[in-house]
Amino acid sequence: MSKINVKLTVNGTEVEKLADPRTLLIHFLREELDITGPHIGCDTSHCGACTVDLDGKSVKSCTIFVGQANGAEVTTIEGISGADGSLHVLQEAFREHHGLQCGFCTPGMITRAYRLLQENPDPTDEEIRFGIAGNLCRCTGYQNIVKAIRVAAEQLNSAQEAAE
Ligand code: FES
Ligand code: FES
Repeated sequence: MSKINVKLTVNGTEVEKLADPRTLLIHFLREELDITGPHIGCDTSHCGACTVDLDGKSVKSCTIFVGQANGAEVTTIEGISGADGSLHVLQEAFREHHGLQCGFCTPGMITRAYRLLQENPDPTDEEIRFGIAGNLCRCTGYQNIVKAIRVAAEQLNSAQEAAE
């Protein structure tokens, strides 16, 4: 099958590569670009481990072909931490408040939480639970994930107020 030319901006860097049109975005990221933060946790588009930010929306990257993302801006967990490797407030909050155990769901969970806090900077616990409903965690029971996201929201809002 003939290849298609794919151009994306991934974590702020433009990439251009030929790809089989049947390539899923998750495989393109992991196998062609060596961006392995987004994980593959299911074959059924249920787990959310592969979540990335695509043009300002949370997307399960196993559910779209790379050609459908052509021209898009993609942010993965690697692009959420600072360029110098410093952790994002959300990552610090997950670490501090035990929002992870095995860590398999964590890149997708934090990438989803990152977008959730832009959609709703001051969510209630119920809104956080609804917001991460597409991301499964087999370890934590979610309590500490919700807590970590709430704490991160409070910290981001305080920083925003201090800057105003
Ligand atoms: S790998 Fe499970 S939803 Fe994408
Ligand atoms: S921390 Fe293990 S699946 Fe979420």
